[in-house]
Amino acid sequence: MCGIVGFIGQEKASDVVIKGLERLEYRGYDSCGITFYNPNESKFVTNKTTGRVSKLLNENDYPDNNHLAIGHTRWATHGVANHSNTHPHYSMNDRFVIVHNGVIENHKELVFKYLPDYKFRSETDTEVIVNLIEKFSKELSVLEAIRKTISLLEGSYALLIIDTQDTDKLYAVKNKSPLLIGESDKGIILGSDVLAFVNYADNYYLLEDNSVITVEKINEKYNFEIFDTIGLKIEKPEKHPMDFVTDELDKAGFEHYMLKEISEQPAVVRKIMSEYMDGNDLKINYKVKSLFEGVNRVYILAAGTSYHAGLIGRVYFEEIAKIPTEVFIASEFAYNEPLIEPNSIFVLISQSGETADLRACLVNVREQGFKTLSITNVPTSTLAREADQTLNIYAGTEIAVASTKAYIGQIAVLAILSNCLSKQHSLDLVSEMSRAAVSMENIVDKRDYIEEVVQKTIKGDHCFYIGRGIDYFVSLEAALKLKEITYIHTDGLAAGELKHGPMALIEKDVPVIAIISQDHINNNTRSNLEEAKAREAKPLVISLDNTSKGNDEIVLMDVHRLLSPLVTIIPAQLIAYYKAIDLGVDIDKPRNLAKSATVE
Ligand code: M6R
Repeated sequence: MCGIVGFIGQEKASDVVIKGLERLEYRGYDSCGITFYNPNESKFVTNKTTGRVSKLLNENDYPDNNHLAIGHTRWATHGVANHSNTHPHYSMNDRFVIVHNGVIENHKELVFKYLPDYKFRSETDTEVIVNLIEKFSKELSVLEAIRKTISLLEGSYALLIIDTQDTDKLYAVKNKSPLLIGESDKGIILGSDVLAFVNYADNYYLLEDNSVITVEKINEKYNFEIFDTIGLKIEKPEKHPMDFVTDELDKAGFEHYMLKEISEQPAVVRKIMSEYMDGNDLKINYKVKSLFEGVNRVYILAAGTSYHAGLIGRVYFEEIAKIPTEVFIASEFAYNEPLIEPNSIFVLISQSGETADLRACLVNVREQGFKTLSITNVPTSTLAREADQTLNIYAGTEIAVASTKAYIGQIAVLAILSNCLSKQHSLDLVSEMSRAAVSMENIVDKRDYIEEVVQKTIKGDHCFYIGRGIDYFVSLEAALKLKEITYIHTDGLAAGELKHGPMALIEKDVPVIAIISQDHINNNTRSNLEEAKAREAKPLVISLDNTSKGNDEIVLMDVHRLLSPLVTIIPAQLIAYYKAIDLGVDIDKPRNLAKSATVE
């Protein structure tokens, strides 16, 4: 995880970098730091904080004429979140400064073999890199020293490097961790995500793995060059315009991004319909469709919320498209591969398109010759670029760490794809999805009511969501939302499993929330809820009009039973949101987490 940003040019570099880091805080926010060149005192200055990026700006002074800076926002992997572990890191003799996103797996071996006499100031793996560069630069040019260093590294790394002896140059390296270049007339910016470039770049470039970049002034203008690991110059990649909707990056009057993004969900469904449907025709690219020709089995791989969307995708592939499907957690599949049916396709689902666990799977299954399709929210992401084909979920930038609208987008796209692959087009998607969007809107509009329900029901340190079939899969996601942003221990359970163990945890007033959207298991789930009530649990039911009974607390407008996850998850998202408000925690940036998990 972690976010890095660097700038060299004619703007106030510290402002560009700090603004960029603020936009990248979703990648980690344990601590942050910046190094910039102060031309007035002819020296490099480093500021660090274990607080948020805004502190870097508010608690320090930056001269207007600083033109070179690198910065980092950290999700701790090696060493706790303290000042010395915070990036940027200096080499032992202070010649080089570095920021790093990624993990160096062999850092201990490298210290033992190459740096036994070096003194380290942090517990990070990063310090090894900067010290190797310093050591090798004694006999090699800086570029050669960087190349020699990376030839020894095992792991993932996006690096920005300053040589303090050359204030007009910036170096960068990309391997397995994301890094992009942005350019404008005023300078060159490098960062982990194009979001960091908003307002500072006109165009951006995506980099391939094993790229080494130099940025320097040529004819009064800063320019960049890209080399491979043996030093050969590589042609610049395709230039992309920065055609961003910057409104998306603001809260639009909402108190939190999470609530804004929950509210946007009906619009996401409508946007997806407009992108993938033309009346009753489905506009899925024929190349995507043809990937499924002759396929006997679908393997869905994903993590976290995307994995929960994948579980629903399995229902769609099997019930609608009639293709047997299995779903795996990416980090499990990566190192414990099952016996794979030969005529299979791998569908990788990821909001960010950068999750390292998934990338490892993608590389692996591609090497084995399997067909791959990614479903992501970022069409320029690594998974979108490296899979055979990709489908965009059109959810718009999702900023809150807790994923909401991306989940909805993934489910909607999976429903459309499955229907497109179905011989009978068994679902009338136009009317059913439109109806789902209206039902979603209804519950978003009645969110004050959910706030009241939360006040009455969600108390204590434990909570359970239960459901059967598709409702069970939604329960998993509902539980993840609540635990992720409130820190209340919450489990999502198959309702029938309560009595097989978890019931031992039920005591007076522990909330048990049943999701009931499927007629055929309505009574079964209700019986399981009764069993919990008999142990003094606090019950709460989320149902649809046609599955509701008596005093159900949250009853949603009916939708097609297969599309119910689009609707039943929304009260659960709102329950998590309002409980987090009640507890006064940081909703958009829950502790210990980051939005993009770019380490395995
Ligand atoms: O970007 P991805 O969809 O690959 O991310 C996977 C998970 O890290 C992510 O869904 C995570 O579980 C969310 N923060 C949950 O809200």
